[in-house]
Formats: sequence, C-alpha cells, structure tokens
Amino acid sequence: MAKSFSQRVLNWFDDYGRKNLPWQLNATPYSVWVSEIMLQQTQVATVIPYFERFMERYPSVEKLAQAELDEVLALWTGLGYYARARNLHKTAQVVSAHFGGEFPKTVSELETLPGIGRSTAGAILSLSLDKKATILDGNVKRVIARHAGVQQWTGIKKVHDDLWQIAEQHTPNERCQAYNQAMMDLGALLCTRTKPQCLICPIASDCHARLSGRPEQFPGKKPKSNKPIKSCAFAIKRNQNNEVFLVRRPNSGIWGGLWCFEQFESKNELEANLAGLGDIDTIWASFRHTFSHYHLDITPVLITLKHSDRVAETQGEWLSLADAKTRGLAAPVLKLLNRLEAEIESL
Ligand code: ADE
Repeated sequence: MAKSFSQRVLNWFDDYGRKNLPWQLNATPYSVWVSEIMLQQTQVATVIPYFERFMERYPSVEKLAQAELDEVLALWTGLGYYARARNLHKTAQVVSAHFGGEFPKTVSELETLPGIGRSTAGAILSLSLDKKATILDGNVKRVIARHAGVQQWTGIKKVHDDLWQIAEQHTPNERCQAYNQAMMDLGALLCTRTKPQCLICPIASDCHARLSGRPEQFPGKKPKSNKPIKSCAFAIKRNQNNEVFLVRRPNSGIWGGLWCFEQFESKNELEANLAGLGDIDTIWASFRHTFSHYHLDITPVLITLKHSDRVAETQGEWLSLADAKTRGLAAPVLKLLNRLEAEIESL
C-alpha cells in the first residue's frame, strides 16, 4: 500500500528536515514559545540572534515575568510587531502568577494566554513535549492547501476551518514533534510561495496543486484592497549636547509603549506648537511607514534648541543617541536616529 501523507513527511524529515535550529536544542515549552512568537511574520535567519540574546537575558519564564517591559521592548527593537513583545511579557506574568511558572499542557488552556493562538499552542505542545497537536501557520497552510487543491484565499472563514480539519486528519499519533517541524520545513524550504520545488517534494505524487501544473496559484491571493494614506510630522528636537527628546507612547494604539519623537498632524501644526523653542533647521524628505491597515507618510522636522541646557519637559526624556537606542523604539524613530547619528559624525 502507498505510504500515508504523514509517513512520507516523516521519512523526508529524517533525511532533510532541520534539526539544529537554536530552539530545537533542549526545547522546553518556554523556549519553543519564545521562538514561535519571534518567528511569526519574521524569517528564521533574522530571529536566530534575537532568540539567543533573549534566552540569555531571560533564561526562564520567571525571569521574563520579573523584567521591565521597557527592557523587553528594547531587546525586541528591530523585530517589529511590538504587540508580540508586550504579549510575551504579559503571558510570562500570567504563567508565573496563575500556573506556578509552568506552561499549561492543553491547547485550550494555552489559547487563553495573550498572544497564543491555536497554532502556536499546538507548536508549543508538539515541539517541546512531542504531544499530538496540530499546527497551521502560514507555511503549513500553503503546504496543506496545495496538496488538497484549495484554490480560494485562506482568509475566508470556511476555507480556514476546512484547512484546520484537513491538517488534523494528516496529524500522526506518533512523532508529532518531527512531523510538525517537517511541515514547517517543507513550507519554508520546498513548498515556497513562488517556484516550489515539486520535483523533490515527498508529497508531490498526489498533490492537487502540482497535478494542476500551476502549483504557485494555490491557495488563492487575498483580494486587493487599497490602504488609506495618513500623514504626520515628527519633531526631532535636539539640544546643544546632541541629546534628543523622546516621549513614551501610551500602551494602546500604534507603537504602544514605544519611544517616539513628538508627533503632530502636519508640519504647520508642529511649527505652531513649537514656535519660539528653537530654530527649525532642516525638514527632511517625507518617507512612508506602512502598517497593516494604512500607510503613514512621515515628515521629520529637525529643531535645534537655542539653549545649551535641557529645557524642562513634563513628559518625555532627553536622551543621548546611545541611550535612546537602548529603549524600545518605533521602527521609523530608530531609522531617523541612525540618520541623525550619521550626520553628526560626518560634521
Ligand atoms: N517558523 C515557525 N516555527 C518554526 C520552527 N520551529 N522552525 C522553523 N521555522 C519556524
């Protein structure tokens, strides 16, 4: 009889699967959880150094629970999607306070924790404890959808529910750790979005997408939507000591809890508010930062204060560029600080 889907995937894993990623060595629910959160929307190669630094700084869930959110966000700077870091910190505190520092061992309990969905819950249980649990992250969704010939966009609820059901049917009773890692590896290494390598794929023989001759057309794309464009101006206030003024944003909303320049609706609004404080010495070219729901066109306005000392401010802090970079920063703020630093150095 022909080999089952999972048997073929497992055989492939034994020969070609990834077995030495940092989070696969001494995997625990804690380390798998941290890596899975980092790996959401982020490539393996990018995650590796962040993961290693994070585990060194916070070797246990208790240590993470006791950390300052600001410090966690600072370690996260550059990874993006900062809600992940805030949820990580919150979940560490819940696990520490309500679960005695041990992650719960069922999908339904894990799913109650901030930032942990059904697939991440399945990954934690299977990859660290070899428990039977199904995963369905973006890569796995593509493998399953192609094999089953799902042509619609997976964001449609019915399509998504169907994929979960198929994924569960494929999940083996034994060796779920290897199987789930293999499914992710297949998605990342062979069954790529463009140019899938069907010739060396272990499940190609009965893959509907491959048999159609156009595997990359499965699953279907999200219908195009035009994101609205918003704009704002950043006040890059600096004093004669090359310190910059940053404010910490409220925890909710865009860049929640991160440090930013003061933000105004427009350049005119900014000038009206900061008149008299100093000279506006440069207006840098506007650039675009794109969020999932809109584009934000940012105009950076550089203001050098007249006085050499710090002007008292009720909110926010004056920071040297080096200190500023130890804070959790919104991505465009880090970009602008780097540019400012380069300009100062070139003077
Ligand atoms: N993406 C999500 N989880 C992963 C894992 N365990 N290994 C590689 N890539 C992943």
